[in-house]
Amino acid sequence: MNPIKYFFKQSKYALNDFNQRIDSKGREYIKDSIRKAEIAKLSPDDSLVFEFQNKGKLIEIDDRNIQSYMISEFPQVIYPNWLYDLVNYGEPIVISQFIKPLDSQKALSGLRNRITNLSAQFYEKADKGKMHTIDLEQAIADARSIEDSIVRGVEKLYSMSMYLKLSQENTSKLIKSDKALKDLSYAKQIKLHQLVYKQKQGLETFLPNVTNAVGEEFYLTSSNVSSSLPFTTATLNDPDGIFYGITLGGEKIRFDRFSKASKNYNGIIFATSGAGKSFSAKLEAYRSLFRGINVYVIDPEGEFKTLCDYVGGTNIDINPESKTKVNPLQFFSSDTDTKEVMRTHLGVVKGLLKIWLSEDAYNRGIVSKAVNETYASKGILLDDPSTYSKKPPTISDLIKIFEKQGEEGKRIAVELLEYSHKGEMGDLYDNPSTDDVDFNSPMVVFNIQKVPDQEKQASIFYLSNFIWQKVLSNRNRKVLIIDEAHLLLKDESSANFMENLVRRGRKYNLGVISISQDVDDFLKSPQGSVIAKNADTALILAQKKQSIPSLVKAFDLSDVERDYITRLTKGQALFIKGNTHSHMFVYATPHERKLFSSNAEDLAKIDEQRKNGQ
Ligand SMILES: Nc1ncnc2c1ncn2[C@@H]1O[C@H](COP(=O)(O)OP(=O)(O)O)[C@@H](O)[C@H]1O
Ligand SMILES: [Mg+2]
Repeated sequence: MNPIKYFFKQSKYALNDFNQRIDSKGREYIKDSIRKAEIAKLSPDDSLVFEFQNKGKLIEIDDRNIQSYMISEFPQVIYPNWLYDLVNYGEPIVISQFIKPLDSQKALSGLRNRITNLSAQFYEKADKGKMHTIDLEQAIADARSIEDSIVRGVEKLYSMSMYLKLSQENTSKLIKSDKALKDLSYAKQIKLHQLVYKQKQGLETFLPNVTNAVGEEFYLTSSNVSSSLPFTTATLNDPDGIFYGITLGGEKIRFDRFSKASKNYNGIIFATSGAGKSFSAKLEAYRSLFRGINVYVIDPEGEFKTLCDYVGGTNIDINPESKTKVNPLQFFSSDTDTKEVMRTHLGVVKGLLKIWLSEDAYNRGIVSKAVNETYASKGILLDDPSTYSKKPPTISDLIKIFEKQGEEGKRIAVELLEYSHKGEMGDLYDNPSTDDVDFNSPMVVFNIQKVPDQEKQASIFYLSNFIWQKVLSNRNRKVLIIDEAHLLLKDESSANFMENLVRRGRKYNLGVISISQDVDDFLKSPQGSVIAKNADTALILAQKKQSIPSLVKAFDLSDVERDYITRLTKGQALFIKGNTHSHMFVYATPHERKLFSSNAEDLAKIDEQRKNGQ
């Protein structure tokens, strides 16, 4: 059976029953008599099975207080998508619209009647010498111009009924929302009426079988109707922004991560593998470079190398064989509030040990003591920032201090040997930093593709810290792109570090772009959820089915948006920046497409071109 027909049939059944029961007693209810199984199909979240109390001005259903409104007039001037503010209004608001085409003949005779009536009123007033006829004149002129466009076939006439519903958990919240809604409609010149003693009918206009139970309508021309559908996306067009893509309606999207309107400069990119996460991040990185924004990347797949070489950036290979070394214990900052940064740094070192050590061996007290003593043994003291630039300890130095911490310390030291030159990971971790790390270059990529998988989490952790310390030294605009960011959320200390980084970035003109394909893991983590919800931009590309519900919840997506993100193809996205939701395609030029591709052939071509100086 056609699922839509089925849906309607079911909801009719439910609603008939609903209507029958409504008038039976003072207390109105709809419940047991509806076959639960039917309801479950129709309304899996049980939203049709409720008891409610009609209180004239509002309706109480379980723990919700619901108030419905009717709109009787739109503003004089309607521009495309003018309803957007209402739809994206921060309160729990639902809108229902009923639009019916009117027969042109009937519409015309109605209009002519109206013109005759208005004209009669006008002459009556004019005869009596009354001056205030401007409203009437305007109404006559409006009606005549509509008549004209209908006669010429330019416009058709429609009847429109429009209702709003607010729902809150208690009356005091409802009163606040009610006031905010009234203020907004006043500002927007929308005539809004609370449905007094018609709340039940108001509520019915929102039920799935869509009955216009209130039945109030007003008339609009085709162009005004089309401007009043809230489904088009408002176009994001920051004048100083980078060109990011094209909306489904064909408009260009430009966005400025560092615009004054941004609440912070952070972003997240969520998608399943191969949907275009890295591609979109590269596109932003590349186009941001032209605007003088510095770009730092932690690149677990070695995907940014081609782009980095192309723009003349610094590609730093982090792997056991690489000549370039970064000492995870190194402290770099030269910022004025270095003490706090040093405290964070010591926290990161302790966090690294937590990741490395077995649960049995890890002892918070001993780790903390040993780390502090190790730095002190090199003359570096938390309380004295002038000592911070001294030569930092290495993993071997740390092990020596652990060996002095009794039996438990010795046990830790033994486990840590793996990370020193006596063990396998020494080439990766146990070295002083080499000084070929050029941070002045506009693009710096830490390529950790060849870091063994089990060490990727630790590497992303200490490298983000390293970049954090470096970025504090200037206030240039910069972005840090962390691919596979969910790895940082696996552990309490690295997750806290990341949340802190994201929170404090704005002060230093830093935007952190976290990329993840493990959307559920990301959103399940308390820190991850805070990071995602507070990010000023979210790029949601094609998803695995199971990630959709948590995304809908985290970003408060509408049903239309939920459907949309279920059907995305490569490069298509829902892009959220502040209040603007754009249905878009991340657009790259043919040349850029090769440059950003993760396809080996494309990359080889670009390398070739570069070598030939093209
Ligand atoms: N917006 C886009 N336009 C054109 N091609 C794209 C777009 N997004 C992704 N692709 C193609 O899809 C491939 C995989 O994208 P990628 O960003 O590497 O996926 P992932 O989400 O796994 O990081 C890219 O190599 C590129 O060829
Ligand atoms: Mg990728």
